[in-house]
Amino acid sequence: MGLSRRTFLAGTAALVAAPALAKRSFAREPGAPLPIPSLVDLKSDPQVLEAIAGKSSMLAGATTPTLGYSQPYLGPTLRVSRGSIARPKVLNRLSQPVTTHWHGLHVPAIVDGGPKLEIAPGASWDPELLIDQPACTAWYHSHVHHRTAQQVYQGLAGMIIVDDPGAPDPGLPKTHGVDDLPLVIQDRAFDSDGHLAYSSRRHTMMHGFKGDTVLVNGAVTPKASVPAGLVRLRLLNGSNARIYHLRFADDRTFHQVASDGGLLPKPVALTSLRLSPAERVEIIVDFSNASPVSLLSGPDGNTMMGGGMMGRGMMGGGSDNPPQAAGGTEGEFDVMSFAPDRNKPAAVSTLPAALAGAPTPNLGDPVRTRRLSLDMHGGGMGRGSMGGGMRGGGMRGGGMMGELAINGRAFDIDRVDQELKRGETERWVVSANMMAHPFHVHATSFQVMSQNGQSVPYETMGLKDVVLVQGEAEILVRVDQPASDAVPFLYHCHILEHEDGGMMGQFTVS
Ligand code: C2O
Ligand code: CU
Ligand code: CU
Repeated sequence: MGLSRRTFLAGTAALVAAPALAKRSFAREPGAPLPIPSLVDLKSDPQVLEAIAGKSSMLAGATTPTLGYSQPYLGPTLRVSRGSIARPKVLNRLSQPVTTHWHGLHVPAIVDGGPKLEIAPGASWDPELLIDQPACTAWYHSHVHHRTAQQVYQGLAGMIIVDDPGAPDPGLPKTHGVDDLPLVIQDRAFDSDGHLAYSSRRHTMMHGFKGDTVLVNGAVTPKASVPAGLVRLRLLNGSNARIYHLRFADDRTFHQVASDGGLLPKPVALTSLRLSPAERVEIIVDFSNASPVSLLSGPDGNTMMGGGMMGRGMMGGGSDNPPQAAGGTEGEFDVMSFAPDRNKPAAVSTLPAALAGAPTPNLGDPVRTRRLSLDMHGGGMGRGSMGGGMRGGGMRGGGMMGELAINGRAFDIDRVDQELKRGETERWVVSANMMAHPFHVHATSFQVMSQNGQSVPYETMGLKDVVLVQGEAEILVRVDQPASDAVPFLYHCHILEHEDGGMMGQFTVS
């Protein structure tokens, strides 16, 4: 046992007394051109990704220290191709350990980049990733135990595009940076020096960190110049905790064509969508009327007080809510804007009726059921809870050990929680308390069967590796990649403060 209760409380008091985030003294200037990260093809030769410390210009006149992979903030978009071996070489130029997890790639645990695979300062890591999965949008990020939230917050993340050259062409826009845009959406806070502000206060750890400034690809509410036609947006919620409720300011209809694990069978018409941490969606937006438009988000009401219920306009804004959007309903804020340009030719002018090459769900019948309860607050709640409030571990890494757990047990890097058999389909019943939790499983795409007893049509959700659990979700999981006791896979809440704080478990696959 680490700290006594008394020491623990004293530590808490000191942290709470720390000054609140100061008022910005640098202007956010929305409307900067959307940065497009460079595209790095991992199809053939090894490519170096260097974890570096950099300086970014995010606020007018300020220099913001950040982290990135081979660039000051975030990393290049990596393109990998089904049937080939990707050979990234990760070099750690930082003075702290990093890892690089390929979130959404179906690769063995030994190359998955989880917390057991730390790259020491100055060291490098050369995994070989055999790509064998449908085309999709995935991402990569550091995953060091107790440090994931801070490292991703500082910038250690990037997008991955998986191509499938053997699949039929779905007929969607695909020119990177032109009519196929990677959009990494994140919320950040800045202190009076224009530096990224982070708080390890207990409140932040429990609710997850939310900032009042929205970045897309590292720029504050930027503007994208797009062709006046159909454009594909690959949206990644790269935020620590914020759930976005996205819509266009003119309430136009757009079409979702893919979720985490790849294409949907056919485009699904929407006027708004919810994107929780680590989720990806691909949407097709029609800009052919050439009118400029903003992408807005409603406030995130996912707090313990909010009881996990959310919806646009429900909770109003807290101090961490970004500024009210001019044309938005109460609490809505700007994410970015689009300026269609008639001089940019649009390569695709009609939306396909069906998406050729979309994966078909073929998980079969489950051979067993596992129950995972995503627990907040020890205190005798939840199955197998240790009960009795505070347990050992104290403040290590900023997490409140013992208050965040799965099936009553906080994450232990030396403990395997579940043993799976390779290729066997299982039914997992995942339940959440106090808040909604975005539940993620490494190394696979799963199918969401039902949420709170309501069945979920595959056609609308497709294959997922993150599902927002609000109450209870039932998912079908099959893992085809191996994981040993030495380097297991992970499942966890993707609110990064919850993950670091113990709402995470490990599993082997043999
Ligand atoms: Cu995106 Cu275990 O993480
Ligand atoms: Cu992952
Ligand atoms: Cu959570």
